Amino acid sequence: TMADHLRKYESLFTLTPQRMRMITEAFSETLDLGLKKPDQTVPMIPTYVFGWPTGDELGDYLALDLGGTNLRVCLVSLQGSGKFEITQTKYRLTEEQKQDDGEKLFDFCAECLQTFILTNMGSVSEPGEERKENEAVPEALLKPGQELPLGFTFSYPCDQERIDHGKLIRWTKGFGALRTEGRDVADMFRKSIEKINLPVKLTALINDTTGTLIASHYVNPRTKIAVIFGTGCNAAYMDRVGDIEKINHLGIDPDAEMVINCEWGAFDSFHHEHLPRTKYDQVVDETSNKPEEQAFEKLISGRYLGEILRLVICELIDEGVLFLGQNTYKLEKPYCFDTAFLSLMESDPTDELLMVIGIFTHFFALETTLAERQFFRALARLVGRRAARLSSCGIAAIVSKMGYLEEGCSVGADGSLYNKYPGFADRVHEGLVDIFGDKGRNIVTHHAEDGSGVGSAIIAAMTKKRKDAGT
Ligand code: BG6
Ligand code: GLC
Repeated sequence: TMADHLRKYESLFTLTPQRMRMITEAFSETLDLGLKKPDQTVPMIPTYVFGWPTGDELGDYLALDLGGTNLRVCLVSLQGSGKFEITQTKYRLTEEQKQDDGEKLFDFCAECLQTFILTNMGSVSEPGEERKENEAVPEALLKPGQELPLGFTFSYPCDQERIDHGKLIRWTKGFGALRTEGRDVADMFRKSIEKINLPVKLTALINDTTGTLIASHYVNPRTKIAVIFGTGCNAAYMDRVGDIEKINHLGIDPDAEMVINCEWGAFDSFHHEHLPRTKYDQVVDETSNKPEEQAFEKLISGRYLGEILRLVICELIDEGVLFLGQNTYKLEKPYCFDTAFLSLMESDPTDELLMVIGIFTHFFALETTLAERQFFRALARLVGRRAARLSSCGIAAIVSKMGYLEEGCSVGADGSLYNKYPGFADRVHEGLVDIFGDKGRNIVTHHAEDGSGVGSAIIAAMTKKRKDAGT
């Protein structure tokens, strides 16, 4: 029966508190190692973003966000006392653009930036004034010769030696643009900007987690950690420079503080010693464009959850348990089962599970029985719950390492999974209680401010302040 099958998957996908504590401990050690030595699997990247914002950062900044799903351009106006205004446009990236030549990708980013400047900032010119073709100078906001500072949110692991450069360590989240890994992506983007003479200056290259940490703290000073639960999964937090052993030789004030981009999605890659991987997870891994890499992320992030569930269903089709006599070819296509379907199945309020009926008939032309629909929903719960509880282990590792448990702290969280998956945050919180006991309640996640836009602008402003002060 379906119930027997479910029991098998329950035991595969359930994490006991004890197992979670073991994972947390190994995770903590991995984070420490990344701070100690360069080039570790979890690279614990020093970002050269020093300290928290004061809240009185001011000015107009452009931000370009190359995330994973969308390309976004924002104009952020920081108005002091934690206030800001934002204008933004989203542009869609095609699968081909993600795999094509890197230079072309950055050229496209620059073109979107140009379109944005022309439509949002060029339109403020005097009435009757004529614009020359391709003229990208927004007169009202920009004086001749002036350049707008641009923060580039590039959410992939980059090795940084300064805030305005970064060498791409490796693509993640299914990206694979050629001739980009190992190169300075800030430089590549700068060249694309110069090609079309845009009046902007790239002043900061940041990760979305770094931006989220800073933007969250700007409005909620109890924020000590930021996590993105989206297409990918990653975290950032603030550490003491003196405790980042691998950069001690640089002679930076040891008492200064710097944001660390953990790139924790890489935890347990290659060796696979700590995480409970099922055979479905192994298939996801082996068929990805980066086998062996991002082992933690592949169990958690929105890019993969639907695929994990799809593989379980396909196994049962092969065993003759599901959809006998129906044509299942539509379900056999990799990545056709969107993680949004898991959200929908879990939030279906009807006894008949009408939403689940809708998904299977509309997208896959398949008929289901109520027992099957209940089974699918139960499976979604298992996969979603495991993702949330594994995330708790990552958060717990940072909390333990930094000693935040007693005093408690807030974790700024963002991304499609956190924002749209029903009950995701509650499950993370439950996981923290399973790891720490009652004290786990001291750690609370909250929806973060737009890290890639606002965070990037604040960091650009902080960078300008440091420059003006000559530090
Ligand atoms: C957005 C954040 O909400 O989520 C971005 O503002 C982040 O900073 C993004 O990069 C990640 O989510 P997804 O689902 O687009 O990968
Ligand atoms: C991936 C990227 C990381 C990013 C995360 C969330 O893990 O490697 O840089 O922060 O996705 O977008």
